[in-house]
Amino acid sequence: MVVLDSKDQLSNKVKALKAKNNKIGFVPTMGALHLGHLSLVETAFNKTDVVVVSIFVNPTQFDNTEDLKKYPRTLDKDVALLETLSKNIIVYAPSIQDIYSNNVISESFSFDGLEHQMEGKFRDGHFNGVGTIVKNLLEIVTPDYAFFGEKDFQQLQIIKKLVEKNHIPVKIIGCKIHRETNGLAMSSRNTRLTEAHKNEAPFIYKTLKEAKRKFGIESAGKVTKWVTKEFAKNNLLDLEYFIIADTKTLKTVKRKHNKNTYRAFIAVYAGKIRLIDNIALN
Ligand code: PAJ
Repeated sequence: MVVLDSKDQLSNKVKALKAKNNKIGFVPTMGALHLGHLSLVETAFNKTDVVVVSIFVNPTQFDNTEDLKKYPRTLDKDVALLETLSKNIIVYAPSIQDIYSNNVISESFSFDGLEHQMEGKFRDGHFNGVGTIVKNLLEIVTPDYAFFGEKDFQQLQIIKKLVEKNHIPVKIIGCKIHRETNGLAMSSRNTRLTEAHKNEAPFIYKTLKEAKRKFGIESAGKVTKWVTKEFAKNNLLDLEYFIIADTKTLKTVKRKHNKNTYRAFIAVYAGKIRLIDNIALN
């Protein structure tokens, strides 16, 4: 397995592989890899010969400096984990300098309104940061396919929009959410949970599943009120938002229509750690 930290080396390597007819997959990550990330790499190998995994904690997408400072960085462990999967992985772990030169700022994007919902409302500038780094990485890696988790469903929809609007020649593949056996969605931030918060966190998915059941028989408004009440009774988890939204527009649903598909989205604070999750409702 190759580990590279320079974009020039990486693009030369990819060019050589493409010249030999290899299909290139790409899984961008911020590291602290867990089974959720690895499931994306496995899906990538179903479609491609060589998979580039980038590991880069992107400063421009953090609206909270403490979150950025404390974001787990475990490169050696990450490389060892990927090594257990396949030899045909290229790890690209660049420095901030390699990506941004001396200009650590975001480009401004319009994602046709997708960026104003949910995470966009609560994390200022987040999707400009994500758009900037993903566009940059796609230009460096030039993959045939790139893989993103439904764990960050809004991010996935925004990346599809980014690719469409900028005519980037890549196919974006969405991958299912990987969960602990207790239902908690895997996340690099889970390692920062206290024992008590870790034990309580499966309540998030349990509530989402019950919300899904209720959505079959009740209005979106009623389900939202029920979820809000359930969290008000919980002393360890603070609800930031629970929203039932249209899958395509990500706008909050006012009235259900049979022809549309909906998803419930949630953000919760477990102490200082912010966790997000979502579930398909129909
Ligand atoms: P990160 O949080 O490291 O996630 C990298 C990829 O793994 C994303 O596509 C994310 O949706 C996916 N992922 C994370 N947890 C998952 C889980 N439990 N099941 C399935 N997929 C999961 O998302 C980012 O990094 C960054 O925003 C990035 C796209 C790399 C840009 O900096």
